[in-house]
Amino acid sequence: MLSNLFPRTVTDFIFGERRSKPALVEPSVPGALIEVKGLGKRFGSITAVDGLSFHVKRGEVLGFLGPNGAGKTTTMRMITGYLPPDAGTAVVAGYDVLKSPIDVKARIGYLPEGAPLYGDMTPKSFLEFCADVRGLHPAGKARRLGMVSDLLHLRAVWLQPIDTLSKGFKRRVGLAQAILMNPQVLILDEPTDGLDPNQKHDVRMLLKEMAGDKAIIVSTHILEEVESVCSRAVVIAGGRIVADDTPAALLGRSRLHNAVMIRVAADAATGAKALLQTVAGVATVEAAEDNGPDGTAGLLAIAEGGADVAAPVRAALTKAGIQVREIRVERGRLDDVFRTLTAEPPSERAA
Ligand SMILES: Nc1ncnc2c1ncn2[C@@H]1O[C@H](COP(=O)(O)OP(=O)(O)OP(=O)(O)O)[C@@H](O)[C@H]1O
Ligand SMILES: [Mg+2]
Repeated sequence: MLSNLFPRTVTDFIFGERRSKPALVEPSVPGALIEVKGLGKRFGSITAVDGLSFHVKRGEVLGFLGPNGAGKTTTMRMITGYLPPDAGTAVVAGYDVLKSPIDVKARIGYLPEGAPLYGDMTPKSFLEFCADVRGLHPAGKARRLGMVSDLLHLRAVWLQPIDTLSKGFKRRVGLAQAILMNPQVLILDEPTDGLDPNQKHDVRMLLKEMAGDKAIIVSTHILEEVESVCSRAVVIAGGRIVADDTPAALLGRSRLHNAVMIRVAADAATGAKALLQTVAGVATVEAAEDNGPDGTAGLLAIAEGGADVAAPVRAALTKAGIQVREIRVERGRLDDVFRTLTAEPPSERAA
């Protein structure tokens, strides 16, 4: 286990690994710090990961999405060298994870799912231990530990056994060890899982700040996180990629992209709905889900092919003299897109 967690110095020493200089691999996509090529993994009859290929460039935060069991954690474990793939490989910062797993691990900060930590240690002793085995120079150790404990607000629990920490604080200690060495590549498996809203916000800000000179993969089920933090999103289902796009482009696929939401007095809703249905470019009009003030009703005019229908909708309402309490154009909803992308029946994804 230790050989996996602390590969650079300790395992070289213990297991006497020969460190002949591995060949650097030139990425096929310029600027890519992570390149995943045809990665596959089976567990018995289950195909967990089925030929994934994607890349992450320096400066990018990639949101890794997919339903439970889609293969996110398995993929991350393969990229970080903790699980051997059955097919394909990953190249991290120029090192092939199959040929140079130790060099890959030395360049990655990894927050595993559930963050296994040493329960009887305190955050302080655990992070000191991590710093020592990863070869952090003693002169910089105290400063770096101070920095990560401040970034993840660990001071209050600094000397408390990890076993006795709440779920969110355990997660923060896991994050602290992932960023401890300021690695070029971060692979974070649901980093904000279990954090309170303030901490979620802080961790998202931290990821954005760190993104400049790193390549980061973040798996998450929180779709707003993708919109606020990620420059790109890869969506997988049944171990296969079903989308690789920017959050804005994904939003553009939502049936609600460019839909116009209006709020009118409840007694004007029937007339407004009938009117909106006649506006050129409007495909359908639905009742809006969100609640407004009492005595009002929300309507959603959904545009054909996501076209921009705000101006004709406004004009029609003005002409008809319908008083509008609120009007806004929807950007689209990622949960909508996610549901559509990942909705194929499991039988179609079987190996
Ligand atoms: N060690 C293992 N042995 C057998 N099956 C496994 C193992 N690890 C993962 N699997 C299976 O591989 C598939 C993908 O699991 P994985 O944990 O990668 O999904 P995930 O996308 O991370 O899901 P979640 O959102 O729930 O975290 C699942 O069907 C899972 O049961
Ligand atoms: Mg997982």
